[in-house]
Amino acid sequence: PRKIIIDTDPGQDDAVAILLALASPEDLDVIGITTVAGNVPLDLTTRNARIICELAGKPQTRIFAGCDRPLANELVTAEHVHGKTGLDGPVLPDPTMPVEDQHAVDFLIDTLRNEPEGSVTLCPLGPLTNIATALQKAPDIAPRIAEIVLMGGAYFEVGNITPTAEFNIFVDPHAAEIVFKCGAPITVLPLDVTHKALVTKQRNDAFRALNSPVGTAVAQMTDFFERFDIAKYGSEGAPLHDPCVIGYLLAPHMFSGRHINVEIETQSPLTMGMTVADWWGVTDRPPNANFIGDLEADQFFDLLTDRLGRL
Ligand code: BDR
Ligand code: CA
Repeated sequence: PRKIIIDTDPGQDDAVAILLALASPEDLDVIGITTVAGNVPLDLTTRNARIICELAGKPQTRIFAGCDRPLANELVTAEHVHGKTGLDGPVLPDPTMPVEDQHAVDFLIDTLRNEPEGSVTLCPLGPLTNIATALQKAPDIAPRIAEIVLMGGAYFEVGNITPTAEFNIFVDPHAAEIVFKCGAPITVLPLDVTHKALVTKQRNDAFRALNSPVGTAVAQMTDFFERFDIAKYGSEGAPLHDPCVIGYLLAPHMFSGRHINVEIETQSPLTMGMTVADWWGVTDRPPNANFIGDLEADQFFDLLTDRLGRL
């Protein structure tokens, strides 16, 4: 199995991504989960990560708490989407599993230094503060990263938190800039693809029909998460963003994109956090990211539902 570290701010869609990864031990070895402030403050994202690992029946998963605020900007959270707890929807027990003592940034650095070069993939599902801080503190880790597969940014779909910015990049654009310039192979799952991974009524029913604690909780989480987005986008179902990252690792053939140049806007108040993606190759700036634009949505939801059924 491929060794991954999930860097996350759960968040219902982060939670589903974590469950999908933990349900797939033959493909993915989750060597740690690092938490960051994003959808809700750090104490809640860390708590939610613990709740989800326990729901998955994997309380031995190692969880490391990370940065509680972006590098330069004030923290912006998204309770309007995810609810007060960040995980509104299901009622799940208080977690009892421990959080590791080590800071997430030090765990990232130590792991990348100690594991064989090119053997650890990073999966950021929230603002990139932890990853950027690790790269700043220990630039030697960049060439040791196998790949960074992240949810963030947008091109044709422009923005969801401002007219031009996607939430994860908007919250910490300075961190995103460091990550996109670090030289490691990067694959980006932007809104362009996640807005094609829609939780329709039928797909939600399929989660519920698993008739298991995980299936029920996922149905309740995506139900809650949907309320806001369906009204906003007028689509048939709400986008299930973060699980696209894990879906890409499990079945990259379901996704397609282009290797292009992506730069991050960190100056303009109007377009702060915009991912300036050279989709048409109109500049001579060198490509630095595999920018995904499309997925086979039915195949993706079949895979997701099947794997969740294993927990
Ligand atoms: C991203 O923002 C968060 O609210 C979601 O968890 C996802 O990571 C989508 O823009
Ligand atoms: Ca997230």
